[in-house]
Amino acid sequence: MKIFLDSANIEHIRQANTLGVIEGVTTNPSLLSKEKGDWKKIIRHICKEIDGPVSVEVLATESAAMLAEARELVKLGPNIVVKVPTTIEGLKTIKELHQRGVETNATLIFSPNQALLAAKAGAAFVSPFVGRLDDIGQDGMQVVQDLMTVFRNYDLPAQVLAASIRHTNHFFQASLLGADAVTVPLSVLLDLIKHPLTDIGLAKFLADWSTP
Ligand code: E4P
Repeated sequence: MKIFLDSANIEHIRQANTLGVIEGVTTNPSLLSKEKGDWKKIIRHICKEIDGPVSVEVLATESAAMLAEARELVKLGPNIVVKVPTTIEGLKTIKELHQRGVETNATLIFSPNQALLAAKAGAAFVSPFVGRLDDIGQDGMQVVQDLMTVFRNYDLPAQVLAASIRHTNHFFQASLLGADAVTVPLSVLLDLIKHPLTDIGLAKFLADWSTP
């Protein structure tokens, strides 16, 4: 399972990158709007920092305008993946970009049907939003499970990228289900490494070593 960082914060991205486990970055307009400075410059920095796909989302809602934005986005780095909302206009855009050899990440996916259509249209990644489904009382991970079954049934080439990951159990469940990739904020990434018994064990080793 590939691990991506869900962030537009260059310091978080650098910090995560020192761990040697980050293989890509996903941004979205909300994450980018939290950062100070020119967003294009930020994306260029991220593209240089990360050796892997960097998803950046279009803001237009109509296909011709999405395509115009995508043309500009791909100039920001060789590893840009154009993030496109999974709408009717989005599907047209995914299809068109696929034909032009541009990788896309179909975002805001909340059902296996949306994912199936995005994959058929040519998306490189499909991003089911787990946490946001949980927020409305549904089981976000069940959607990932169903989606994995559908993708295996038809051997669809798109990579399933579990998104809107809020805690370590989401991450673990995604890995059990065989998601191709998962995108996590820095806080969740750091939580994955922590275990109280590791801390207790380390403290005991150090105490025993220093006891004469
Ligand atoms: C994915 O690509 C999105 O940027 C992200 O995972 C959304 O997460 P949220 O629901 O925590 O905002």
